[in-house]
Amino acid sequence: MMKLSSRIRRCGLSPMRQFYPYEVAAVNKGLKVHHMNIGQPDIETPPAFLEAVKDYQKNVVPYAPAPGEEAYLQAARAYYAGLGCALEDGDILATFGGSEALEIVMACILEEGDEVLVPEPFYPNYTTFIGVTGGKICPIPTSAEEGYRFASRERIEPLINERTRALLVTNPGNPTGVVLSREEMQVLVDIARKYELFLISDEVYREIVYTGEKNTMLAFAEAAENVVVIDSVSKRFSTTGARVGALVSRNHALMDEALKWAQGRLCITTLDQLGAAKMYETLGMEYFRSVRDEYRRRREATVEALRKIPGVEFTSPDGAFYLMVTLPVDDTEKLQYFLLEEFEDRGETVMFAPGAGFYSDPELGRNKIRIAYVTAPEDLTRAVELLGLGIAAYHRRNQK
Ligand SMILES: Cc1ncc(COP(=O)(O)O)c(C=O)c1O
Repeated sequence: MMKLSSRIRRCGLSPMRQFYPYEVAAVNKGLKVHHMNIGQPDIETPPAFLEAVKDYQKNVVPYAPAPGEEAYLQAARAYYAGLGCALEDGDILATFGGSEALEIVMACILEEGDEVLVPEPFYPNYTTFIGVTGGKICPIPTSAEEGYRFASRERIEPLINERTRALLVTNPGNPTGVVLSREEMQVLVDIARKYELFLISDEVYREIVYTGEKNTMLAFAEAAENVVVIDSVSKRFSTTGARVGALVSRNHALMDEALKWAQGRLCITTLDQLGAAKMYETLGMEYFRSVRDEYRRRREATVEALRKIPGVEFTSPDGAFYLMVTLPVDDTEKLQYFLLEEFEDRGETVMFAPGAGFYSDPELGRNKIRIAYVTAPEDLTRAVELLGLGIAAYHRRNQK
């Protein structure tokens, strides 16, 4: 029998995709399924992206340089300059989405058994990126009652030990929608400096903040050696299939090591980088504002509909396009199976991401779900209504 690595066996399947076969069965039965389970926005990809790809004139699509196409790197540097962060050549590495940037940084910093502090609930794929490189997540506990806020010394410092290598935060947050205040960011910067930790800031939702200024950890010059930013065009420009992201850091030792990985995989997709460059060159504040306003409408529709369901608890999110909701049910995975296999209302049902997969101890998330509000407001109103009807039907079924 051939052996598979313990590192990969430690990782799990994505909680966002585990119900796919049941969804297919529901669709085959003729049901319309409303999706609140996956962060796939339906906002149109900017024409600039497709035009750049269509206008490509050469008759060979060659490898791009390993660190990235110059046009993309230059456009990205100009974008960061617009955020007030001057970056030099070598501070940005083009990656296959934010996903590869996460994978590269973990490969560069972790030894077997090393720990990464991550506020919980967290983006489930962090488990994979940290797990395959031999590391493990040390969760920073949060609570629904406190709106999932985590950035305090009292909460974080006791968790730090000699195996702790990094603090990984998602800002704005997936799945919680929490946006760090400037003061909270300063707390994290101070901790990272004091304990000599990498401060990995996953900012793929940077522009989607409803409360005011967008922020980046790159702005904290005193932590230039600690800060590593994970970035991506996926959500910013609604181009999730383009697979263009960035690893950004002024820590040259780290970036030199990361380049070895980049050279090993040769390059990321040439044409997608040209499309990404064009979006950065031609779209700015106005574009980001209109997208944010659209997500704000979607958030309002979702929150308003949720308020009508008895017994649900949540905090209206300040950023990204997700929210965690506590439901009056014992196990939201069972509820999801019920909704796909036994429930319908006028030929429709609904999907969400059960909360268990967002916690290192699944029990902590059993009565929670994550909602992605990425469709039109009227669809979200109906999807949340279906959730309420489904919960009522689930209780009736269980009482029989
Ligand atoms: C918090 C967070 N980080 C990173 C990613 C990775 O996205 P991509 O690889 O498409 O850039 C996602 C995608 O959903 C995400 O939610």
